[in-house]
Amino acid sequence: MRADSPPHDQDDGSDDELALARATGVLAGTLEGEGPGGSPAEHEKERDRDSGHPAAESAEISVGIVGATGLVGQEMLRILEERNFPVSELRLFASERSKGKPVRFRDETLVVGVVEEGCFEGLDLVLMEVESDVSRELAPAAVAEGATVIDNSSAWRMERGVPLVVAEVNPEELARHKGIVANPNCTTMALMPVLAPLHRRFGARRLVVTTLQSVSGSGQAGIAELERQANELMIRPSTLRRAGTSEISPKRDVYPKPIAFNVVPQCDAFVDPVTTKEEKKLLEESRKILSHPGLKVMATCVRVPVFVGHCLSVVAEFDQPAHVEEVLDILAEAPGVELLVGEEYPTPLDVAGTDGSWVGRVRPDPTNDGGVAFWVASDNLRKGAALNCVQVAEILSSQGWLRPAGQRT
Ligand SMILES: NC(=O)c1ccc[n+]([C@@H]2O[C@H](COP(=O)([O-])OP(=O)(O)OC[C@H]3O[C@@H](n4cnc5c(N)ncnc54)[C@H](OP(=O)(O)O)[C@@H]3O)[C@@H](O)[C@H]2O)c1
Repeated sequence: MRADSPPHDQDDGSDDELALARATGVLAGTLEGEGPGGSPAEHEKERDRDSGHPAAESAEISVGIVGATGLVGQEMLRILEERNFPVSELRLFASERSKGKPVRFRDETLVVGVVEEGCFEGLDLVLMEVESDVSRELAPAAVAEGATVIDNSSAWRMERGVPLVVAEVNPEELARHKGIVANPNCTTMALMPVLAPLHRRFGARRLVVTTLQSVSGSGQAGIAELERQANELMIRPSTLRRAGTSEISPKRDVYPKPIAFNVVPQCDAFVDPVTTKEEKKLLEESRKILSHPGLKVMATCVRVPVFVGHCLSVVAEFDQPAHVEEVLDILAEAPGVELLVGEEYPTPLDVAGTDGSWVGRVRPDPTNDGGVAFWVASDNLRKGAALNCVQVAEILSSQGWLRPAGQRT
């Protein structure tokens, strides 16, 4: 979706003043009301009118969802319906505690089961939405029973021979899968559709990234912790103003510090004294998706008291100078990217429920000639997880790549 794409009347050597004017919307027409402006929801509607969601074109597919009762599993069901994915049969699985639970899909009520031997037999595709230790056990079992697995956990992402795919960026990797395809983590996913076309044009060298990640990134437990703490702490708002963690000690199960009315510069566990697992994932997964092992990423991943929607503040350095004028043109055309210019920018509440990686605040980096800074926001449950899985499934199906390489006729 193009939020703004005025004629590109400047060559690559356009000076930064002009670029800054473009970035702030002065030349873009947004100040005169010519540009689209508007909210992410309006943009999304406009795109739906233009093209609709692409339905997969090929034969009907039998699908299993493991983790169907979780946040990602529930979003997956919505997206399969929305995109009219050609499901011939749907089997839903979760843990023992959800056994027998009814779940609506299209006009049917399905019953959630538990995974047991033979439960994947006859399925073409298994969408795995569980923690990595569960996936380590169940994904090979599903493959052994004849299904192809698209996995959302971190279990397989860095495994050699397992494609790690963002639908708009490296779909060609899917051709060589051997039964398991990995979905990137939700933060990396938000960034890739934005960074990949810039990398192809200018050569990404170094990123300094601060993420602001919602609690739904930690699943149902993260949502429950924010709700519980917010309710508890709002009874004594004066305590919040005075701070002092000894006085604010709500019950904590998920995060190391209170998450309600707070900002926590730690997502996931520390892997060494200075790096968290989420920061390591952002580095390693970006390198793998872009096939760019030399990319440098300095990340600080921060958990914020937001329910849905992850944001990233990015400062990017390239091999070639990246003039903002051209950056905006590239992003305006980039698949999966929704560009906002000038004083329009996306927030988590704007983008929750939408499909794109939303970009705003694109501007030159005054501390580094040829570098750019920008802001990204995306729905971590949709593009960050369920949507990309379904897009990958659509590509596998339409390309005839659903079966593992070597087993195709
Ligand atoms: N949330 C995000 O933004 C996001 C983004 C990208 C990737 N991911 C990854 O996606 C996966 C799911 O995340 P989520 O946010 O949906 O978590 P969640 O809300 O906690 O849901 C977890 C799901 O796993 C099921 N489950 C647990 N143990 C199981 C077992 N032994 N066998 C079968 N099912 C089992 C749960 O069933 P019960 O309901 O019965 O407990 C539930 O359906 C995780 O690996 C996560 O890291 C999440």
